[in-house]
Amino acid sequence: MASYLDRIGAGAVLADPEVLDFDWMPPELVGRDPVQRELAAKFSTLAHHEGAGRAVITGPVGSGKTVLADTFCRDIQRHLAGRRNVRSVKVNCRNASTSMRVVQRILHLLDPGHPDRGLSMGELLLSLRRLLRREASHLIVVLDEVDHMLRRSGDDLLYQLLRIDEDQEGKGTMSLILISQEQVLDVLETAVISRMGASNHIKIQPYSVEGLEAIALQRAELGLVPGTWTPEIIRLIAEKAGLTGDARRAIELLNAAVERCEFRQDGHNEPYIIVEDIHEPSNTSIATSGSNLETIDDLNTHAMLVLLAMCRRLTNQETMTTGDVEQLYAVVCEEYDVKMKSHTTVWKYLKDFETRQLTVSRVATIGGGRGRTTHLSMPHFLPKDLASRLEMLLKKQFR
Ligand SMILES: Nc1ncnc2c1ncn2[C@@H]1O[C@H](COP(=O)(O)OP(=O)(O)OP(=O)(O)O)[C@@H](O)[C@H]1O
Ligand SMILES: [Mg+2]
Repeated sequence: MASYLDRIGAGAVLADPEVLDFDWMPPELVGRDPVQRELAAKFSTLAHHEGAGRAVITGPVGSGKTVLADTFCRDIQRHLAGRRNVRSVKVNCRNASTSMRVVQRILHLLDPGHPDRGLSMGELLLSLRRLLRREASHLIVVLDEVDHMLRRSGDDLLYQLLRIDEDQEGKGTMSLILISQEQVLDVLETAVISRMGASNHIKIQPYSVEGLEAIALQRAELGLVPGTWTPEIIRLIAEKAGLTGDARRAIELLNAAVERCEFRQDGHNEPYIIVEDIHEPSNTSIATSGSNLETIDDLNTHAMLVLLAMCRRLTNQETMTTGDVEQLYAVVCEEYDVKMKSHTTVWKYLKDFETRQLTVSRVATIGGGRGRTTHLSMPHFLPKDLASRLEMLLKKQFR
């Protein structure tokens, strides 16, 4: 029968596809302790029966804003179980971009049978109040991508939600978390942030390579078959995503690498992710046709020879040391029958490669912190492709 479908469900590398889904909620956030604590601090009174909190979370794309709020709501409910009945609802305002739609969604999430058609804003809010009072629960409302609603309907709803307790005895019915990418909040920032309290504004930074590495590592550990990946491959993926600082990019690259690796499986080769799997499949004429590989065309001859030495090693290995570079450069010089440049010159080339984003370097301490080794990698190019182009360029020069 249809043998092209054989691979579906085979999963030589992928043990749990869900883990590589953007919407999968990790058991815990990695590397975000400081922001998690900052957020928790805004809700320090929540254990108290009249306590409520407010927070505005902003940060660049893929910096973990949504997952920060999601995991907080999940964890706080568990944490307060038995002490206070806490519920949470999240509305993505990109899909519900008017204040009317937002309230309808909140009500629907709390009470799926609630009739919302034909009700005015005032009536909807009244229903919401009644519902919360009846349940005697505290509600955390998360408005994700809130800028969409603010742009369409202004910030009036925020005001209404913040005063939801006003007509009743008691306080602390509702907490509010607003989330927005920082670039889009600017126009509305002053009004909204002052309403929510400037001290409740939590600004998230983009992820560093180390942060992305930890996130990709978590997904690999929980979603892939053991032995099909190495920490070095995960590091390379993190370095490739490093320019953006976007966690989604790191997960996407891991997912793509897994797919390519699965695709290569034919029952004969070892199922594990290799350097080639983390790059876009190359087209065969890449050495001659136009592509961003051209960035190397103006390198001088010896820089090309050093880079070629690196490419050859990095085709099969994720990283190499500067010592490896010099050794392999010597071999390449012999091959092209030229005299090697000095150590200092090679070092200068390596710096230049890094500036051009051809390579990435990381200094690691070894042997209990006594020695320091520089690890070089090539996350943005497929070393094999770069090598072909270099060989073509060098051929012209040595003709
Ligand atoms: N610290 C982390 N630990 C584990 N997973 C993370 C972490 N940060 C982000 N992620 C994962 O990365 C992906 C992107 O994160 P998230 O959706 O929270 O970003 P965002 O800042 O809301 O992005 P956007 O601005 O596009 O809405 C999600 O799949 C999320 O689970
Ligand atoms: Mg988000």
